[in-house]
Amino acid sequence: MDGGADEHLGRLRRIRERAVLGGGAAALERQHAKGKLSARERLAILLDDGSFQELGALATHQVTDFGMSEKRFPGDGVVTGLGKINGRRVAVYAQDFTVLGGSFSQVQAQKINRVQDLALESGIPIVGLNDSGGARVQEGVRSLAAYGEVFSRNVRSSGIIPQISVIMGPCAGGAVYSPALTDFTIMVDETSAMFLTGPGVVASVTGEQVSAQELGGAGVHAGRSGNAQFEASSEAEAIELVQLLLSYLPSNTAEEAPALVTDDSPDRMDDALNSVVPADEGLAYDMRAVLESVVDAESLLEVHKGFAPNAIVAFARLDGRPVGIVANQPAVMSGVLDIDSSDKISRFVRICDVYSIPVITFVDCPGYLPGVEQEYNGVIRHGAKIIYAYCQATVPKISVTVRKAIGGSYVALSSKQMGADVTFAWPTAQIAVMGAEGAAPLVNGRAIREADDPDVARSQFIEEYREQFLNPYRAADLGQIDEVIEPRETRPRLIRALEVLQTKVADTVPKKHGLFPV
Ligand code: HXC
Repeated sequence: MDGGADEHLGRLRRIRERAVLGGGAAALERQHAKGKLSARERLAILLDDGSFQELGALATHQVTDFGMSEKRFPGDGVVTGLGKINGRRVAVYAQDFTVLGGSFSQVQAQKINRVQDLALESGIPIVGLNDSGGARVQEGVRSLAAYGEVFSRNVRSSGIIPQISVIMGPCAGGAVYSPALTDFTIMVDETSAMFLTGPGVVASVTGEQVSAQELGGAGVHAGRSGNAQFEASSEAEAIELVQLLLSYLPSNTAEEAPALVTDDSPDRMDDALNSVVPADEGLAYDMRAVLESVVDAESLLEVHKGFAPNAIVAFARLDGRPVGIVANQPAVMSGVLDIDSSDKISRFVRICDVYSIPVITFVDCPGYLPGVEQEYNGVIRHGAKIIYAYCQATVPKISVTVRKAIGGSYVALSSKQMGADVTFAWPTAQIAVMGAEGAAPLVNGRAIREADDPDVARSQFIEEYREQFLNPYRAADLGQIDEVIEPRETRPRLIRALEVLQTKVADTVPKKHGLFPV
């Protein structure tokens, strides 16, 4: 090699080394001291070894305001490129907090836009690792405009490729809207926070004193607000969740989600299921245990676990094929439907539908939650989302009525009339307009009042109502339930039904888009 070539290579190597350093050793040390990894360290764990192909490593801003010509770092605070996760192609970007706090610049946006475009054109998922102080103040309106470029691509890609956001540091101001537009948001405990306005602004505007974690930590968003679908205890766990989540999803909506080979027999029956529902209908049980017994061993991945725990939504596998599970959780608020659980269920059904993942619904629900607060906050329009989502979904839909399917919950939760393909019920199912205690006096109020002993008369009517209506057989007589099965048969029955439904083709009416109730 001659001296000229050496010089060229030497220059390239020096530039590359500088790019890899990000904001420098001291900034990296500060990042580590906060318990956080650097953008490159995170990507190294996320992606298959040696699969990362970086793009735009040398791109740098050209801004001169506020002394910015002295603060030029190759890469400009984000590492972008393509790689593989478990052998499957993905596009990635990871904000680098060591460079100007990962602040969002025009160049950063151009780099992110490039991988967003590549992901959409190639039909591959995109994963964003967020760790940024928000719009780069020194770039003014350029930085604001740049957010718009990201958001528009988020929306264009929505319903075509999976988009996953991981919050691994601050995510403030307008930055929060990209994660909110993506399919899944994962937050890391303690080290991440997401808010529209930080504690300082909150204090000055509303007078409320609150820490960053109290305002927008992982617990807040994975629990109360529902803005995050997953909460991870560490960065490594968050990255594992990305890998796991992608294993249930196709690379784009024109493809099928990958099936896995499983040792769990499709014919496996669990006798314990036959006695899982307590004889006393006032007692609860854990629906999660039912689900775990039915699906392939260790395949249940709960989404939105801490948000609206009166409902469960989860990815799982049956005979190796991904399915979406929706279930009421009778152990929390009797599994009632309310505003938050309506949002949780409807969002999940839509996600399953768009990725062609069959939806299986386990019903044990006394109905929609009554109350002034629920009505004032719009339980009607939120509850309507469940109905809309199930009616709209064209994927195979199967329901299993485990116990209560009372009133609105019967109709809303994957009923035959709303397009369920196969409906099973356990012998413990109670499919009726209302519960016995409410129905008997309503129907027989006068007879009860005029009886010699109203208490005895009421009990008799309740018993009679229970016997006649609180069972699955009336609904089965009418064809609303296809089959009443022994609980232990649930797994093989579901697997057989799914096999048949695999080739389901649904008719849809062409239209621009429906007006989903929001
Ligand atoms: C430019 C920024 C920055 C920003 C941080 N930095 N945020 N530079 N623009 N938005 C720089 C700091 O100057 C500092 O540079 C380095 O990053 C590290 O920041 P620190 O403050 O030292 O770090 P830390 O103490 O960990 O605090 C992190 C932080 C804080 C909580 C994120 O930096 C912060 O509050 N930043 C502003 C957050 C915010 O309000 N963003 C909203 C912007 S408005 P040096 O050189 O000293 O190392 C917005 C609207 C968009 O986003 C709307 C779009 C629709």
